[in-house]
Amino acid sequence: MSIQNTTVIQNIRLDDNASQLIIVDQTLLPQKLVYLALSTREEFYTAIKTLQVRGAPAIGIFAGYAMYLLAKGQCAKSYDEFKKRFLLDAACLNSSRPTAVNLSWALKRMEKVVQMHDNINDAILALRAEAIAIHDEDIDMCTRISKYGLSLLKDGDTILTHCNAGPLATSRYGTAIGPILLGHEKGLQFHVYADETRPLLQGARLTSYELAKAGIDVTLICDNMASLVMKQGKINAVFVGCDRIAANGDFANKIGTSAVAILARYYGIPFYTLGPSSTIDFNTASGDDIEIELRNEDEIKSMWYKEPMALDEVKCYNPSFDVTDHSLLTAIITEKGIVYPPFDINLKKLFL
Ligand code: MRU
Repeated sequence: MSIQNTTVIQNIRLDDNASQLIIVDQTLLPQKLVYLALSTREEFYTAIKTLQVRGAPAIGIFAGYAMYLLAKGQCAKSYDEFKKRFLLDAACLNSSRPTAVNLSWALKRMEKVVQMHDNINDAILALRAEAIAIHDEDIDMCTRISKYGLSLLKDGDTILTHCNAGPLATSRYGTAIGPILLGHEKGLQFHVYADETRPLLQGARLTSYELAKAGIDVTLICDNMASLVMKQGKINAVFVGCDRIAANGDFANKIGTSAVAILARYYGIPFYTLGPSSTIDFNTASGDDIEIELRNEDEIKSMWYKEPMALDEVKCYNPSFDVTDHSLLTAIITEKGIVYPPFDINLKKLFL
């Protein structure tokens, strides 16, 4: 499948009557491309919680449309009641996953729309427009990020990536995968090493899928092989996504990212995170203040195996994200440009 086809996979969209949210069920890839039609608060909550929709920007886009549909489906008798129910729905979705700031960022944007109105019909129309704006802005931001990222690569480069920060995790192109897809469209040749990304295997199931379908030379490795391929001189740069960038440049991303950053520093390989401004959280001073999601032990012990791979009584610790210290970052690639250290000063200069 060509890149054009890949980008045509619309991972999140309203149906033709704007009554349901259609998403790709990311838990079933790469074996099955299944679309889900969602409309209730429970379905929206579960989709985020179980990673049917995942990736920080995609969660934000999803939340925008979900709040529009929930507001539209209300039968409130007064604007006060409408607002009250809206806030309860938003709080419910916000509690689904804590680490990616794009979720609360999108919910706050939708909430602001409700606060600005006093009439239900007007508010619903404005909520629809806001959800579409969040989506369109993400397409624009990812395109710009991809261009900036591409400016750091040269034809023939090999890039290592961790987790999935491609079109499925965003709107179009993606963030960390965006420069590679964009470069490929322009006829450049890249090779990508994709970490499989234990325990939920986003690298194996999603990144290598997206890249292979786009016709990009991709090699899948286990997470613990990154050091060897770096040592062998195979990697020119590391590109990863992010779920929350703190004001000082520390950032949360999929568990294992910080280990890759430490390895890259050791081997002298440039290490970049790529993310839109919707992922930057100036209210979070440093990575120490980022809440790390803890997930079920089954994801480690039994989810991918016929038989559990550890005894019942063995405890598991399953943090879903880690924080990479800003000192390990070469630069942060955003839609407004490439930000170099000192990040606390330069992020503010560009965005505030
Ligand atoms: O748990 P996930 O799969 O939602 O984690 C996703 C990541 O860590 C991505 O790298 C991040 O959200 C950036 S997506 C552009």
